[in-house]
Amino acid sequence: MTAPLRTGEPAVVKVALGDRAYDIVVGRNALASLGQRVASLRPGAKAAIVTDDNVARAHLKSAQTALERAGISSSSVVVPAGENSKRISGFETVCEALIGARMERGDIVIALGGGVIGDLTGFAAATVRRGIDFVQVPTSLLAQVDSSVGGKTAINSQHGKNLIGAFHQPVLVIADTALLDTLPERQMRSGYAELVKHGFVRDAAFFSWLDNNWREVFSGGPAREEAVARSVAIKAAVVARDERENGDRQVLNFGHTFGHALEADAGFSERLLHGEAISIGMALAFSYSAAKGVMPTQEAQRAISHFDAVGLPTKLAQVTGGVSNADRLMDLMAQDKKVKRGKLTLILSRGIGDAYVAPDADPSEIRDFLSEQLAAR
Ligand code: GLY
Repeated sequence: MTAPLRTGEPAVVKVALGDRAYDIVVGRNALASLGQRVASLRPGAKAAIVTDDNVARAHLKSAQTALERAGISSSSVVVPAGENSKRISGFETVCEALIGARMERGDIVIALGGGVIGDLTGFAAATVRRGIDFVQVPTSLLAQVDSSVGGKTAINSQHGKNLIGAFHQPVLVIADTALLDTLPERQMRSGYAELVKHGFVRDAAFFSWLDNNWREVFSGGPAREEAVARSVAIKAAVVARDERENGDRQVLNFGHTFGHALEADAGFSERLLHGEAISIGMALAFSYSAAKGVMPTQEAQRAISHFDAVGLPTKLAQVTGGVSNADRLMDLMAQDKKVKRGKLTLILSRGIGDAYVAPDADPSEIRDFLSEQLAAR
């Protein structure tokens, strides 16, 4: 990472993927540099911005102005905010709009929004004319530290989330941390769960730093830029080693096998946001690791206490409306994409900063563990 942090200059994190390498620019007001950065990457290209109606009201004009100032003409596609836009019908709308705007292979599609917009736009960019370059401009904390980086793009099937997709790396990510100033507190906390996850899986020192500085991440001081930049640098390094998730990238799913089951059980509703689900999922993964004796109990407790301090849920009892029984949660985990040939793969922890892939996890042990956790409500 090249990181002139605290000087007003943005930090630039490199994703080292050979001829598909790209920069992640992290900084307050970095959106203003969108046009100049696109112009230097793709001189003469035109742009199409894909966004949702909420983000369009807040930030579309700024993105268009930044492009205009660099002499880039742009069209825009605005879809309704929310997960429903990640259906085949929403995908069709975006593809037809991009084709209608005469977007060619040398042009640039810009995803301006949260995770839904990034995933949908990235998949449309991967497929229209067999692939157009795209830029991610994530507007939520969750998208800035996770979904905008790494090239996973997807829409949902009737059978589950993100089941239709492609790996398509962006050519640039611009994470403007000032855009988070207006994000609702609950959304900030949800994104923070993915931010701190990168410390939990690969960087104990980053976690310790967050344990001291997390309040400033929320209040919007310089620690916010530093936290986002350090978090994405950890993800970028993992992605550079294992782009297609054949090995080490799986550790980024820490907390997600339990978490996705809880999200599905809550009907992917406002009852439980993604980051809240994986916060409980990570707390369960730490507790399970400690119960198996692979991680010191005290350290698991230190991690869980951090979530408690931040105001993220850590217990099944904290899910609004309750949780189904252990058998139902096991069924939901079995449907998760992390199941390989019927065996459950869990990401466990030997200690803060040291997550590992545990394939062939014993389903009966996990069911018993979940029953105990449910009984402890
Ligand atoms: N969100 C996990 C990954 O991108 O691999």
